[in-house]
Amino acid sequence: MQQLQDATDYLIQQTNSFAPVYGIILGTGLGALVNDIDIQYSIPYDEIPHFPVSTVESHSGKLIFGQLADRAVVVMQGRFHYYEGYSMEQVVFPIRVMKMLGIQKLFVSNAAGGLNPDFNTSDLMVITDHINLQPTNPLIGTNKDALGPRFPDMSEVYDAAMIQQARQIAIVNGLPVKTGVYVSVPGPMLETKAEYRYLSLIGADAVGMSTVPEIIAARHMELPCFAVSVITDMCVPGRIKKVILLDILEAAAQAEPSMTFLIKELIKMQGPPVEKEM
Ligand code: HPA
Repeated sequence: MQQLQDATDYLIQQTNSFAPVYGIILGTGLGALVNDIDIQYSIPYDEIPHFPVSTVESHSGKLIFGQLADRAVVVMQGRFHYYEGYSMEQVVFPIRVMKMLGIQKLFVSNAAGGLNPDFNTSDLMVITDHINLQPTNPLIGTNKDALGPRFPDMSEVYDAAMIQQARQIAIVNGLPVKTGVYVSVPGPMLETKAEYRYLSLIGADAVGMSTVPEIIAARHMELPCFAVSVITDMCVPGRIKKVILLDILEAAAQAEPSMTFLIKELIKMQGPPVEKEM
């Protein structure tokens, strides 16, 4: 808790008490949303006390503070994955800090493999529910009562009103938006054909290696959550190809304008713009 407080205090001081209303996590290949932000502060993760330090990446991620569609937002450009060797507590540390900075809702994006045969590469899938197949989760251990309860409810993890609004935005604007269940696996290897079949049989529509730990931490703190997957490759019998990171990035890039549009429109629907100081 002290580490969370240290990081929060540092950010409050570095941003002149910038008060973000919404938090956003950008997934693999989906960083371009940042181009739509009127950036006020950009703080590298490695300057923030106790933030997980990037191991392999050549450049560390950044926490970006600014206005998106005239709403005050904080954006994680780059996230932490369990497969990188971080503990689950480290993976969700930034989410807890964003909540302590005052965010009222969390928006998450990721790249995922499509298990539902009705999907196509570069579709968006609004996440309606999830299955956690990560080997552990961020709430294991002594409960941090200041953050949330010991046994948080998971009966409605993804905010029903925002799912409905996203559907509406998709229909009105003709966006290729599907809905479905996301299963989170540890990775970092992709799945075998038998594993894809298994994941489909247990009820998942898309598979990826992130998001669920962050969402669990967010729901522990009772933050309303919205999450969307970009389907970067198809994992259905007959349509499985060798997965190459470059192809995943290309499919994500193709879907990026729709994803950015969807999140921006959705954020606009969440409340009035912040008053600009004269
Ligand atoms: N499996 C797991 N994670 C992924 C995939 C996949 O097929 N595609 C993108 N992220």
